[in-house]
Amino acid sequence: MFTVSVTAPASAVLARKKVTTLTLRQKKERGEPITMLTAYDYPTALSMDQAGVDAILVGDSLGMVVLGYANTLPVTMEEMLHHSRAVARGAKNSLLIGDMPFMSYQADMNDAVRNAGRFLQQAGMDAVKLEGGRERADAVRAIVSAGIPVMGHLGLTPQSVNQLGGFRTQGKTAPAAKKLLEDALLLEEAGCFSLVLESVPARLAEHISRKISIPTIGIGAGVGCDGQVLVTHDLLGLFDRFTPKFVKKYADFHGEMKRAFGEYLAEVQARQFPAAEHSVEMANEEWESFLRDA
Ligand code: KIV
Repeated sequence: MFTVSVTAPASAVLARKKVTTLTLRQKKERGEPITMLTAYDYPTALSMDQAGVDAILVGDSLGMVVLGYANTLPVTMEEMLHHSRAVARGAKNSLLIGDMPFMSYQADMNDAVRNAGRFLQQAGMDAVKLEGGRERADAVRAIVSAGIPVMGHLGLTPQSVNQLGGFRTQGKTAPAAKKLLEDALLLEEAGCFSLVLESVPARLAEHISRKISIPTIGIGAGVGCDGQVLVTHDLLGLFDRFTPKFVKKYADFHGEMKRAFGEYLAEVQARQFPAAEHSVEMANEEWESFLRDA
């Protein structure tokens, strides 16, 4: 039996205060880039929190990179809450944002407020995120008026994949760019504390970031946003199906996992694992007594 310490070094705990929506706003004002990553489980949340990430999004990308669905549409509130709780147990200082799944806020305003509230009340999240522009402004207003911080999400909004005709860059024409800017201004006015801009031309994202006072967090939207987010499974090279052009892989965990599993299989088959140091023993006299009675 062995124990593993899961506490951060005392210096790191002392040095880092809880990140809030205000912290993000202040970072924008100071021109300091905001860092955000997605997480769906305890160990990942623990390590990125200890690494010092500003915000952790429990994204509904969960559906694709963890649960293996073709897109994010089948993800349910129960799945999101289950994974949000695990993340909240691991991350103590990062701002925690729960992603509202498809149909948890689109059909009915009361449902939207209640579902948003569940992320805070039942899953340890600090804020929620939802997708869409002008058509979601009322939902944003209702949720914010219940005291729940809302992050908006414009550009490539994966829950509208069927309407967008696939996972495609948005805002590439002048009218589309104008609509995106208008939506960003509307969401700011409706009370969002921050906006994700996904797969948007870099110069448009930079322009929007300058026009609004709330921080923008880009994914495939260039360096001119106030912060950046990546889907962690993409960054770690853990999602084997496809890698969007805007992803930088910082590791090859899929390859590394395959290597480790292959090595384990080979060692078990060759009876090299477990070795003596991986086994436990009993005292000789107990063993001999056991053999006498057996
Ligand atoms: O679900 C998610 O992970 C997201 C990010 C891509 C921003 O919405």
